[in-house]
Amino acid sequence: SKTLRYYAEKNGKMIGMAFCTYKGLDSDRSEAARQFNMMVAENEMKMDVLQPSQGSFSWGAADGLVSLAKNNNMTVRGHCLVWHTQQPAWLSSDGKKNDKGWTRQQALDIMKNHITTVLQHFKGKVTEWDVVNECLDDDQSIIRTNPEGYKLRPTVWQQAIGDDYIDSAFVYARRADPDIQLYLNDYDVEMQGKAKAVAFSNLVKRLQSKRIPLDGVGLQCHFSIGDVDSVKLEKTIRLFGEAGLKCIITELDMGVPSTTTANLEEQARNYRMITDIVLNNDNCPNLVVWGIKDNDSWRSNSNPLLYNSGLGKKKAWYAVRSAL
Ligand code: XIL
Repeated sequence: SKTLRYYAEKNGKMIGMAFCTYKGLDSDRSEAARQFNMMVAENEMKMDVLQPSQGSFSWGAADGLVSLAKNNNMTVRGHCLVWHTQQPAWLSSDGKKNDKGWTRQQALDIMKNHITTVLQHFKGKVTEWDVVNECLDDDQSIIRTNPEGYKLRPTVWQQAIGDDYIDSAFVYARRADPDIQLYLNDYDVEMQGKAKAVAFSNLVKRLQSKRIPLDGVGLQCHFSIGDVDSVKLEKTIRLFGEAGLKCIITELDMGVPSTTTANLEEQARNYRMITDIVLNNDNCPNLVVWGIKDNDSWRSNSNPLLYNSGLGKKKAWYAVRSAL
């Protein structure tokens, strides 16, 4: 029978999953390669892995993933260059505080070197990157007093450089490789009406008004059943489309409180709803799920993926395939 990627390719879409080389069994690898046409490194391209000590880079794990993808004719999307989690200890004790006392210029130089070295290494192998990940603060109540209409999360980058660290990250990325697509990725921004979604679009407007090179935004979509309002989600995708941007699904999973038949059917309906939205919107070329099997998920307690722990296809898998 036909695969997910067969139907996705017929529709001009990418169907992707996050793969983790140290979790994946051989059976996971071959199923991933058979069913998906896009691969994301669940952890192997994060800064703590790529630059474990300052100025010295470690490519082994990421290169392994890239060749797995290449051997199976899959596209690799890069995740992620600038973040506040999984940052190396030499940069910051926790990714949030500037407790190494970097000056603005030092932090800009570190960021530029990381971005430039990574993009040059993966040139021609990775087609798009999450340049900045999760930069918005979860609490956007400051919106009323901030003229720009968003509050950034305090991170080592934001503390050392200031709010325009985002601008610099995108400029460095475009200069390092003009041929790739550059994304701003975040969560809790998927549905219009939420304060953080408003903040996300305010930030994007500000970046666009300054002509910062940005090709699209990523909606993580770490959901649980009942979370998704399809009208509000589609509104977000269209809003960015009107601004000339791609808007893609980058880390979809759909938690259930327990694996009753009713919950798994509801999970399948939710996956189907999101897949339908992807198909209906030309500025949404990618649908990426965050893992393969439930037991390997970062939210393994909520069984949020398309395959169960025995690599059996769930109702959600069939729902995605029939929507494609
Ligand atoms: C998660 C991975 O899935 C875990 O294996 C890891 O321990 C922590 O990070 N948002 C992101 C992803 O952008 O990078 C995170 O991935 C999940 C939340």
